[in-house]
Amino acid sequence: MYVLGIESSCDETSAAVVRMEEGRREILSNIVASQIEIHRLYGGVVPEIASRAHIEAVSRITYEALETAGIGIGEVGCIAVTSHPGLIGALLVGVNFAKSLAFAHKIPLVAVNHVKAHVAAAYLEYTELKPPFTALVVSGGHTSFYSVDDPTDFVEIGATRDDAAGEAFDKIGRVIGMPYPGGAAMDALAKEGDAKAIKLPSPAIVGDNADFSFSGLKTAALNYINSERQKGVEPSHADIAASYTKTIVDAIVKKTKYILDTHSSRCLVLAGGVAANSHIRGALETLCKSRGVEFCRPSLKLCSDNAAMVAAQGYFEYLAGNFADTSLNASANDDGN
Ligand code: KG4
Ligand code: ZN
Repeated sequence: MYVLGIESSCDETSAAVVRMEEGRREILSNIVASQIEIHRLYGGVVPEIASRAHIEAVSRITYEALETAGIGIGEVGCIAVTSHPGLIGALLVGVNFAKSLAFAHKIPLVAVNHVKAHVAAAYLEYTELKPPFTALVVSGGHTSFYSVDDPTDFVEIGATRDDAAGEAFDKIGRVIGMPYPGGAAMDALAKEGDAKAIKLPSPAIVGDNADFSFSGLKTAALNYINSERQKGVEPSHADIAASYTKTIVDAIVKKTKYILDTHSSRCLVLAGGVAANSHIRGALETLCKSRGVEFCRPSLKLCSDNAAMVAAQGYFEYLAGNFADTSLNASANDDGN
């Protein structure tokens, strides 16, 4: 079956066609129109500008996805659209467009949770992957562990209590002069610095849990940078990136160990934009190898926001009979469904 995916939850308009069948998972097209250059001028995503840019791009991107896949809209068996969580105005553009397309062409419609879609990216590259497994989603909005017993059934077993890891990278990246979003630049710069140069508080919450808190770490890094600047010294950006990254990676490894032990997980799926971080990927690879746990981490282009992952999750929602109709609305929040 051909599934058309549509994604507009933040600052990427994306449409994709994937072919999903028993034993076959193939991406035929995955077109992404990034708005990063526009938002960079403001140092972060401006919600109203994002919505307007989605409106301008969504039909062009969708038809490009169909054309690249070499199929007509009449051959699409299901339309999958991200309906939550995300920026409400941005989500509404994709949801309304998908509803109209589904209604006009009498195609079944399914609503997709963006976080579940990040995890579903793994099915596209690990074609044998099947639940049960443990998923770790690290993105601009999430740092959460899930127990996945079925492709549509996620139970949260750990999460950040405040900011997400992506936000934490972007915030300090910005303070040391990196253009938005600073995550990938922090990743590269961290390789050039001394990870032991600056002592920072761990974002791992103390105790038997898999929770994080990134706000204290952010403040501590900010205070360090400000106090050095007050002394008239510009601290080494590479040392900041290296120390900050190591503190985050160590916390993620610590909580992943806890989750693997307490849930007897045999397989870990790493997902979300921050899953592109080479230090996190390397550390979790080593951890999983040492414990004989299978480690699935999608390639970089499937970690960041894209519609192929939405289509993949949409296929499983379709199989589960979770259809949406023209009353479908968007929601900014993650209700877990
Ligand atoms: O999943 P995503 O594309 O959007 C959300 O759903 O939030 O994640 C975007 C986040 C941004 O904070 C970006 O800086 C971060 O992913 N990111 C990275 C890397 N590449 C992207 N963070 C750390 N290291 C990277 N290599
Ligand atoms: Zn995302």
